[in-house]
Amino acid sequence: MHKPLIAGNWKMHTTIQEGVELVIKLRELLRGMDAVEVVIAPPFTSIYHLHFLVADSPIELAAQDVFWEESGAYTGEISAKMLRDVGCEYVIVGHSERRRYFAETDEDVNRKVMALLKVGLKPIVCVGETLEERERGRTIRIVTGQLKGALRGLGPGGIKDVVVAYEPVWAIGTGRNATPEQAEEVHNTMRELLYEEFGMDAAQDVRIIYGGSVKPDNIDSLMAQPNIDGTLVGGASLKAEDFARIVQFRHV
Ligand code: 13P
Repeated sequence: MHKPLIAGNWKMHTTIQEGVELVIKLRELLRGMDAVEVVIAPPFTSIYHLHFLVADSPIELAAQDVFWEESGAYTGEISAKMLRDVGCEYVIVGHSERRRYFAETDEDVNRKVMALLKVGLKPIVCVGETLEERERGRTIRIVTGQLKGALRGLGPGGIKDVVVAYEPVWAIGTGRNATPEQAEEVHNTMRELLYEEFGMDAAQDVRIIYGGSVKPDNIDSLMAQPNIDGTLVGGASLKAEDFARIVQFRHV
């Protein structure tokens, strides 16, 4: 059994001051919490400042993206080493918003995963189908294709540091979450894929988390599913009380 992982993706929200206020509230609400791994992914501009604030708390930091090169003339980009330097443990890669607005491909995601593992950072690899793909019965094909693409060339040693996030595109920011059964079906299939590609240990160790309109009122039933090992939370992670309630999910 692995520790559940609850991560908050702040997306393009919060100034430094707003981030500080949110973290101060969260620290208070999550004092002593050690049953769950808690991660927040603020915008790049706040990470350095917040890393001092989370130092004595259960909260760890993630970035929302990375570029795969180590350094060089890549204006506007940030490397894995820089993210480690600033205090990150995790990095989200392949979020559907990046795939959609910045044309990220599975190959790009794969390069990012490799670059992160090389410096000891843990990738949170996002996969998920659109509504049209789901309605056409292509969910499993899309999601397993994205996962295979993201993990191509990875050895059994690297896989244990990977977190997989299933985020159906139609559930993101829409208030319409996948039902626990819908999410469980996809998670279960991905676990089988991990078993086939990387063996039993990987299938057991890799955490598969769900994202898409996770809220205080649906977290308990999502976490009751055997293959849901945590959640990736967008909107509700910007409200300290809501995020703390999600972290402190109840076993139903
Ligand atoms: P919402 O929780 O706002 O639907 O966002 C989910 C998400 O994209 C997390 O990465």
